[in-house]
Amino acid sequence: MCGIVGYVGSQSALDVVLAGLKRLEYRGYDSAGVAVLADGGLASARKAGKLANLEKELVERPLPAGATGIGHTRWATHGGPTDVNAHPHLDNAGRVAVVHNGIIENFAELRAELAERGHVLESETDTEVVAHLLAEEFSGCAGLAEAMRLVCRRLEGAFTLVAVHADEPDVVVGARRNSPLVVGVGEDEAFLASDVAAFIAHTRSAIELGQDQVVELRRDGVGDGVTVTDFDGRPAEVRSYHVDWDASAAEKGGYDYFMLKEIAEQPKAVADTLLGRIGVDGALTLDELRIPAAVLKEVDKVVIVACGTAFHAGLIAKYAIEHWTRIPCEVELASEFRYRDPILGGRSLVIAISQSGETMDTLMALRHARDQGATVLAICNTNGSTIPRESDAVLYTHAGPEVAVASTKAFLTQLVACYLVALYLGQVRGTKWGDEIRAVIRDLADISGEVERVLETMEPVRTLARSLSDKRTVLFLGRHVGYPVALEGALKLKELAYMHAEGFAAGELKHGPIALIEDDVPVVVIVPSPKGRSVLHDKIVSNIQEIRARGARTIVIAEEGDEAVVPYADHLVRIPATPTLLQPLVAAVPLQVFACELATARGNEVDQPRNLAKSVTVE
Ligand code: AGP
Repeated sequence: MCGIVGYVGSQSALDVVLAGLKRLEYRGYDSAGVAVLADGGLASARKAGKLANLEKELVERPLPAGATGIGHTRWATHGGPTDVNAHPHLDNAGRVAVVHNGIIENFAELRAELAERGHVLESETDTEVVAHLLAEEFSGCAGLAEAMRLVCRRLEGAFTLVAVHADEPDVVVGARRNSPLVVGVGEDEAFLASDVAAFIAHTRSAIELGQDQVVELRRDGVGDGVTVTDFDGRPAEVRSYHVDWDASAAEKGGYDYFMLKEIAEQPKAVADTLLGRIGVDGALTLDELRIPAAVLKEVDKVVIVACGTAFHAGLIAKYAIEHWTRIPCEVELASEFRYRDPILGGRSLVIAISQSGETMDTLMALRHARDQGATVLAICNTNGSTIPRESDAVLYTHAGPEVAVASTKAFLTQLVACYLVALYLGQVRGTKWGDEIRAVIRDLADISGEVERVLETMEPVRTLARSLSDKRTVLFLGRHVGYPVALEGALKLKELAYMHAEGFAAGELKHGPIALIEDDVPVVVIVPSPKGRSVLHDKIVSNIQEIRARGARTIVIAEEGDEAVVPYADHLVRIPATPTLLQPLVAAVPLQVFACELATARGNEVDQPRNLAKSVTVE
């Protein structure tokens, strides 16, 4: 996710855009930039780091005053957070500036074509190709809006684009496909933004843009100031609406907490993490891994190091890696890893999973692994952070910034990334046939919609959570990949509701934990698919009977159509049927909602729980 602002009107474009970017900084904060049209030309500034760095730059090197401008706060996907990769990107003549949110999947071929035509591209980003394409098209057509339409028809992937051209000083043009863009309509001024938070200080009149649409804002009196068409130039139907959120709520997309917003963003985060990694033939394309196939073919052990929720993702990844590649896989708490004197060598692949990319325990673990000669692959959500920088390779999750301390969308995208790595290892080593890999990828591609379906049925879970807010403990049981899900559900409840919660492998009950069962103790049970190994399913149904016979209140997470659990479920939460290994992607969601709602019922501060930090940069 990135923050985008465009403005045309009578105020200082720089002031309006910078204030808007401040409101959007939660969407991305690894670099920022602005462009302003003034004196017949285009002036821009951009800096790596937080917005404050750009503001400092603008004090030292002011831009000319202008009433038309665009701006961007970046959450890097392609290319690290550097000055040269910061948006806006310009064409070689410096007459076009463009900012972008999303992923342009075919940027490599477009980049090659532009280079053949003599364009010099300076950055590592996918976005820069758009500036050069707009410059080419503008020179041959009736204005920037038409140029944008022509360019958009050549782009593949998800994108929000906002651009200006020095030859049209009173015009800002935007376009969107599978990425947010909203119009603000003021008195003699108009705004474009990733979300309304950027402009509701100026106007609450907004226009929602539809898929594959181009919007032109003009202040020279031509048209009504806002013109919307489809990519072929046909006038488009749009919906105007009044924004009744306050600015703070707007940053959270109208949700009370960032965590709720991030739970809701999970379908898109899962889809975005797959974007650009599945070829047209359905095969896996992970060239970005940059680990030679020869190295991957020699790997004789995989070790996953991570903390907290990322560690739980690693526990789930173990099942997939071992099942699909037959390579032994260990999963280690990063804080314990190097103190047990692990056995590593040149054929070890260490995978460091981290949302923030700054967790010191995980960083120290990967440093130890590299000292031992292992190859280190980072799975990370924060482009350019320390852990990927110190790894041999990185696979970025595309969850966008995760603001809430309790990890949700990062967790689901870590799982997706781990599945992709496991499939890629199987593909390179020949332990998975192409058609088998394509089948799993098709299942992964369905998950985004299935998570959406789960989110639509969460009201009973919220009601249940509120009814349990006075409980002292909740237990979680699971088998196979459901066991790490049980651990994750317990962690969510601990860190949000400040209550005792514990996850167990259901098979361990009889070895001790069943002593904890007493009258009305809530026990959440994640039930494996009945279509999977029936022995797993039958055994956990027996476990549910055992705990119910001892007074437990059973909260059963089970697939649609699984009738065997019905007689033993005091509360039944249905999830879509998925392949066994992928079930955590849907089973974790009710547990996130449950924990968030119970914490809210307890009056806790959900986004910043007590004693916790979003990134633990100390050991
Ligand atoms: C999970 O909800 C917590 N925020 C915490 O356990 C977190 O997963 C852990 O600290 C690891 O953080 P990282 O992914 O940024 O490395």
